[in-house]
Amino acid sequence: MNKNITRQNYPISRSDRLKNNGHQAKVIWFVGLSGSGKSTLAGNVESVLHKKGYKTYILDGDNLRLGLNSDLGFSKRDRSENIRRIAEVARLFNEAGTIVLSAFISPLESDRNQARKIIGVENFIEVFVHCPLNICEKRDVKGLYAKARKGLIPNFTGIDSPFEPPKQPDIIIKTKVEPLEMSLKNILESIEPKLKLE
Ligand code: ADX
Repeated sequence: MNKNITRQNYPISRSDRLKNNGHQAKVIWFVGLSGSGKSTLAGNVESVLHKKGYKTYILDGDNLRLGLNSDLGFSKRDRSENIRRIAEVARLFNEAGTIVLSAFISPLESDRNQARKIIGVENFIEVFVHCPLNICEKRDVKGLYAKARKGLIPNFTGIDSPFEPPKQPDIIIKTKVEPLEMSLKNILESIEPKLKLE
């Protein structure tokens, strides 16, 4: 941290922006293996919220890795930096009054804890998108598990790179057994009360 940097304060605060928007802003952080259903859920939750007039934005692992994080790979260090940058971006959107839906594997507890700290525990809602590895692998939407099994993608989460399930997520969604409509309903019932302004 540079000692010659001073935080600037501006007349319009977070709560001023929230008042203009008419709702609270939270970061809904979807955690889960590749193929577990994070992006599908985030997209569907966003569609419902958007139709109801909420200000929303999705931060997605593959998309961010095409731009801001295109210099990062999948080593432990790069994944940490990936999550740190995303958390900082999520914090900015959140300060701007937007509900952020983030869909990243975010496999390590320590990185998720750092993200929670950056964003602020009061604004962070952790959704564990639980799906057994063998089901994600069977779905293999992007064909990446097959490649990883052939040794063509090193450090693939769940194959030769660890995934630490969240210990106390705010919401657990079991995409193997739960129909999408039910998962959607559960998530919305849990988050909508938190979006009300006092
Ligand atoms: S994270 O582990 O750093 O949180 P992130 O969510 O950004 O991962 O990116 C995961 C996406 O990158 C996967 O959905 C998949 O499409 C792709 N991918 C490419 N290589 C890997 C890999 N080694 N492990 C996991 N996902 C990978």
